[in-house]
Formats: sequence, C-alpha cells, structure tokens
Amino acid sequence: MNIDLENIFDKCILYKDKIKNKSLKECCGRILIDYKDKLIKKPGTTTSHHYFEGGLLYHTYCVTRNAITILELYPNLNVDSDLVIFGALLHDIGKTKNYTDWDNKSEYKYNGSQLLGHSYEGTHIVENYLSEYDLNEEFKNQALHMIGSHMTEFSDCGTLVLPKMLEVIIIHFADKIDSTLEPAHNVINQVGKGEKYKTCNGPRDYYKSLNPEYRDF
Ligand SMILES: [Fe+2]
Ligand SMILES: [Fe+2]
Repeated sequence: MNIDLENIFDKCILYKDKIKNKSLKECCGRILIDYKDKLIKKPGTTTSHHYFEGGLLYHTYCVTRNAITILELYPNLNVDSDLVIFGALLHDIGKTKNYTDWDNKSEYKYNGSQLLGHSYEGTHIVENYLSEYDLNEEFKNQALHMIGSHMTEFSDCGTLVLPKMLEVIIIHFADKIDSTLEPAHNVINQVGKGEKYKTCNGPRDYYKSLNPEYRDF
C-alpha cells in the first residue's frame, strides 16, 4: 500500500488536538512524538493485519478515525471523548517494543516479551508519562484502562482486566473493525464471485457476494 506516513502522522496529531484536557493532550502528544520513528517503522502485527512498514502508525490512525466516527454516530451517548481519543491513539503503543525493524530483506520478527504482551507494555509506557502530570490518580487509572483493556478478552496478548468503561468498548470495536477488514484488501480481489477466500486474520473462510449488481473495483 502506498501511504504517506508523514501525512498520516500529522493527522494523528490533529486528532490529538481534539483532546480538551490540557494535561491529557500534552501527554498524548509527547508520546506520539517520542515514538514517531517506531510507529513509522513497525508493522501492525506480524501475523494478522497491517503487515507492512508503518502499519502500526496507519492502524493507529484508522482506529482513532473509526472511534471518532462512532462518537459522531452516537451524539447523545454521554461518554468522555478525551479518553476515547487518548486511548485510540495510544492503544497499541506497546507494540513499538514488540517487533524488529523492517530491513527490506527479512520479515519482521516478534521480539517483545511473550510474558507481558502489548496491553501491559503499552500501559507501562503511558503510565510513565502520565506520572509527570498533576491529574487525579483514579482518572490516570481510567486513562490507562483505555490501553490495558482494549483487547477486552483474556488471551495470549489480551486484556489486563475486563473492560469497565464504555470508552474502552468503543476503542475495542474501532480496533476490531480495522484489524478485521484491512487484511481482506488484497485477497478479496483475487477470487471470483461466490468463491471463498481466507485472510491472514484467522482460519475462517469468507465468501464473496453473488449479487449481480455487485461489481469489483
Ligand atoms: Fe492491540
Ligand atoms: Fe490495534
């Protein structure tokens, strides 16, 4: 995919600017800038989605875009948009520690700690930054909950605790949509109508529509 990653990073900064809480906004901006080089070099995953250089940054952007769209679709839902945007932008920041850099010769390799996982590692990164801000301690925990519980289920790289705020549920579904649809981009064009195909997102077969009105791009 031909993506202008500098432009995508700038868009993430514009999303960050939507955060109203000054401390949360500054904290988020500092983390994005400090981790920019890694976000631009790492994949989203090595196995299931956004497997390309900068896939991690592009996925971060898409999840935040999706989350903000969900907020717009439910304008009467009284959730904290600051927590949603903060969490969406930082939900996978722990993955910056998980993968080797792309060297155009070999594949990315997982080199994070199998014993910790990106929910914990991201929470740890963000906690260090948040500790410098004079915010209510329980509110800091709420902000960290956006990162630590975005996976919602216990698994190999899953959640720290089950989600306890609607804000993190929004981030989870924004993440789920992007990580499910992105791997289908290429393979869906390689099969005919009604045929089944697999994505790298798991063992399940998907079927292409038989609708005569349906046209491939
Ligand atoms: Fe994640
Ligand atoms: Fe994600």
